[in-house]
Amino acid sequence: MALPDLSPRPGDLDPVETMPRDQLAALQLERLRRSLTRAYEHVPHYRSAFDAAGVHPDDVRILPDLARFPFTTKADLRDNYPFGMFAVPREDVVRVHASSGTTGRPTVVGYTRNDIDTWADVMARSIRAAGGRPGMVLHVAYGYGLFTGGLGAHYGAERLGCTVVPVSGGMTERQVMLIRDFEPEVIMVTPSYMLAILDEMERQGHDPAESSLEVGIFGAEPWTDDMRREIEERAGMHAVDIYGLSEVIGPGVSQECVETKDGLHIWEDHFYPEVVDPSTGEVLPDGELGELVFTSLTKEAMPVIRYRTRDLTRLLPGTARTMRRMEKVTGRSDDMMIIRGVNLFPTQFEELILAEPDLSPHFQCVLTRPQRLDELTVRVESRTTLSAADAAVVGARVAERAKDTTGASVTVDVVAPGSVERSAGKMRRIVDER
Ligand code: DLL
Repeated sequence: MALPDLSPRPGDLDPVETMPRDQLAALQLERLRRSLTRAYEHVPHYRSAFDAAGVHPDDVRILPDLARFPFTTKADLRDNYPFGMFAVPREDVVRVHASSGTTGRPTVVGYTRNDIDTWADVMARSIRAAGGRPGMVLHVAYGYGLFTGGLGAHYGAERLGCTVVPVSGGMTERQVMLIRDFEPEVIMVTPSYMLAILDEMERQGHDPAESSLEVGIFGAEPWTDDMRREIEERAGMHAVDIYGLSEVIGPGVSQECVETKDGLHIWEDHFYPEVVDPSTGEVLPDGELGELVFTSLTKEAMPVIRYRTRDLTRLLPGTARTMRRMEKVTGRSDDMMIIRGVNLFPTQFEELILAEPDLSPHFQCVLTRPQRLDELTVRVESRTTLSAADAAVVGARVAERAKDTTGASVTVDVVAPGSVERSAGKMRRIVDER
């Protein structure tokens, strides 16, 4: 099916998106020095961390000098819970968000009025790069609340000039009704919840390819190019990737351009990326796979310096924009499952599963320890009800491919449609029963 042409037209882009690299670097250096100074002067954590490392913001002469500064981790944010990382008086913070970590206290982030403005700008830029235009109807099915997805998308879409439908997550039947009645061109939602919405359309007897949707802006969790193909073919819409994290601003840190779909351009005028070796912390050259680290260049309420995202990717030169790209995030270092010494990520199974016409993209990785050794069972739904014998055959085939491609022995359990947990937000891919 031919997908709609949403490529940008001349004059659509913000000049900074195609700024020559040397000018961009000069802008980044000036902003970096200001951001380091703000952190050092106003956040006790940064002052003591910089002092302990023997570095001072004035030491930065060129961008690579940033590598001498200490990293910031989620633990640092937790230790300063709730407002200890703020660089402005609490009265100047007009909004907080929080991300619920896997354990204990959430991570709290804050925004000044200018920060909310910057965020709306980078989100508007992201939506436009995805093919959104002023005047389009845009359905937001990311959750509204402490999670940054809903409100981040909302402000960006309003800034761009779209008609925003703030649905939030959940109530899947109603999502389908609103899409049919309001005819949005754009939907913003996690890719796993998009699948649940497509299933619901079909359950109600509607062909997703007939819907008004022209583009989906999917993020907040890892997904693969195979999942892109599945959604594009099934729904006749573009599927593009959006990335971000609360600590850095929320969604809108980087965005895939609809005309190239070749990784995500990082909005480098606001967020300075580095990729480091996750074990040594050494900065890696562009092109090498490692952990993504961000330094905010313009944030006021909560500057972050060398924040370790735990996300694994590589930096690549710009294509549709002059800003650098990051490869699709395939996993987080803390999502890595180690089965008999083999490192595995859920996205590896997504690819193998989507290569099987009988299997649906709904799956979970269940970790158990029946005796002393860890075992991984991939529990995946079939698209239609299969006989026990057919389910066993396709399960064995995926397990064999997994063995061939990764070297790990896993069990693939093919279960009936509808029996894998659904989520209206981020999908829980790993179920740890050890
Ligand atoms: O998930 C922000 C967001 C909302 C991004 C909506 C995109 C769309 P957090 O809840 O703080 O913020 O979670 C951030 O989610 O470090 C990644 O591990 C993961 N993540 C976010 N986007 C992607 C993506 C939001 N496109 C964490 N691909 C990040 C893979 C992603 N992982």
